[in-house]
Amino acid sequence: MAVDSRKLKKSWKVSMSKMAENTFNPIRSIVDGMTLTPNPEKDMIALSIGDPTVFGNLPQPVTCEEAVQESIRKRSYNGYCPSIGYTEARQAVADYVSTPTAQVEASDVVLTSGCSGALEMVIACLADPGQNILIPRPGFSLYKTVAVSLGIRVKHYDLLPERSWEIDLQQMENLIDDDTAAIVVCNPSNPCGSVFSEEHIRDILSTVAKFRLPLIADEIYEHFVFSGFKYHSFASLSKDVPILACGGLTKRYLVPGWRMGWIIINDRHDALSEVRIGLSKLSTRILGPNTLVQAALPRILKDTPKFFYTETLDYIQENARIFYNALREMPGLEPVMPQGAMYMMVGIDMESYPEFKSDVEFTQRLVTEESVFCLPATCFEYPNFFRVVLTVPKEKAIEACQRIRQFCEFHFQPTSPLISGNGYSITNGKHRNGYHAVTELSTEAGK
Ligand SMILES: Cc1ncc(COP(=O)(O)O)c(C=O)c1O
Repeated sequence: MAVDSRKLKKSWKVSMSKMAENTFNPIRSIVDGMTLTPNPEKDMIALSIGDPTVFGNLPQPVTCEEAVQESIRKRSYNGYCPSIGYTEARQAVADYVSTPTAQVEASDVVLTSGCSGALEMVIACLADPGQNILIPRPGFSLYKTVAVSLGIRVKHYDLLPERSWEIDLQQMENLIDDDTAAIVVCNPSNPCGSVFSEEHIRDILSTVAKFRLPLIADEIYEHFVFSGFKYHSFASLSKDVPILACGGLTKRYLVPGWRMGWIIINDRHDALSEVRIGLSKLSTRILGPNTLVQAALPRILKDTPKFFYTETLDYIQENARIFYNALREMPGLEPVMPQGAMYMMVGIDMESYPEFKSDVEFTQRLVTEESVFCLPATCFEYPNFFRVVLTVPKEKAIEACQRIRQFCEFHFQPTSPLISGNGYSITNGKHRNGYHAVTELSTEAGK
C-alpha cells in the first residue's frame, strides 16, 4: 500500500511533551549539580532527606502494621475503589480532621496518592494556564514544580525569619492580582519548622478574605508540633475563606512510602461547589490511591495510641535542642529554633565564609571535608541558609554538630558587622535586628 510521504518522519527520535519538559524539581537539579564526594575517612551523615524512615530509628506505629495486614487478610480490597476513595476511609479521615468549628463529612474528603497527589490535584483544579498562585519563600518546592508544569505561574511571598517565619502579609497582599487563582500556605512548615500562632492564622485569613480567594493549606505536618506550641488548622479558624486542606499519613505516621494523602474541602459560602465537581473529575485520572492502605485508615486514625505521637515528637524536639544549642555557638551560623515539623533552618553569614560563593558551595564542601550533608536552602528559593533534618538518631546529631563545628572554625573569617544576603544584619553570627532574641524566646517556649 502506498504511504503518504508527508507522514514519514526522517528520524526515530521521540520528543518529550512540553509538560514533561517544563517539569522541574529544583531540589533534584541543585543536588544533582553538586559534587558530593564524602571524606572517605568519615561515614556519611545525611541531614538532607525529609524521610523519617531512612535511619530506622523512628518506627511506624504498630496500628499501621496490623491494620494493613488485616486489609490484606480480608481479601476484599484488591479491586478498584471509587476514584475519590472508599466511603468508610473518607469518613475516617473526616472524623479525624473535624474540629468543633470545622466539621466535615465523608463527602468533603478526596483520597489521593500522598499529599503530593492532593497538592497536584488542587492546583490543577483551581488555576488555568496563565493564571498565578502565591506560594511561600522559603517553601516546599513541589508547589512550583506542579504549577509550572501546568503552565501556571507562581509568585513568592516571603516568610520572615526574624518573626519565627511568619508571612509578610503586606507583601503577600501586594502580589495579588486579577490572575491570582489561589494562595498556598504551609503550616507547620517545611523547610522552616515553624508553627503559626492562632493570631497569625486569623491575620492571614482576614487578608485573604478581602480578596475572596481560596486557600490551599498544606497541612501534611498537622499536629506535628513540639510541646509548648499549639496547632490550629486553617479551616478551624476560617469563617469566610474556603479552604482546600491537603494532608496525609506520610509524616505523622512515619510511612511516606505508603502514599496515602487527602484533600479536605472546607467550603464557605458555597464557594467550592464547582471545585468539588472538578476534584471528582480529576480523581478519575488515577482511580484513587492504594486500596489496602485506604481500608486500614479507620483503624490507623482511631486506634494509634497517644504515646506514639508524643514519643515521636519528643525525639525530634530533643534533636532540635541539640542542633540549636550547638549551631548557635558556631561562628557565622544562625539557627532558627523550630516549633514543629522535622526541620531547622540555619542562616549562614556568607561574608564570614569568603571561600564559598553560596550556600550550595558551603554545603558541598561540608560533605567533602566532614561527610555531613545539609540541603542548601537555595533549593527552597532562599539562599544563604541550609536546612537540617531532625529525625536522625541522637548520636548522629551530636556527631554531625561536632563536625560542623570543626568545619566552621576552620573556614570562618571574622568580618566587621554586615548585612547578609537576605537583608537582615548579622554580627559574628548574631542578628542585630532582634532576630536572635526572637529565636531564644521560641526555645524557651519549646522547653
Ligand atoms: C510541606 C510538604 N508538603 C507535602 C509533602 C509531600 O508529602 P507526600 O510524601 O505525602 O506526598 C511534603 C513531603 O516532604 C512536604 O514536606
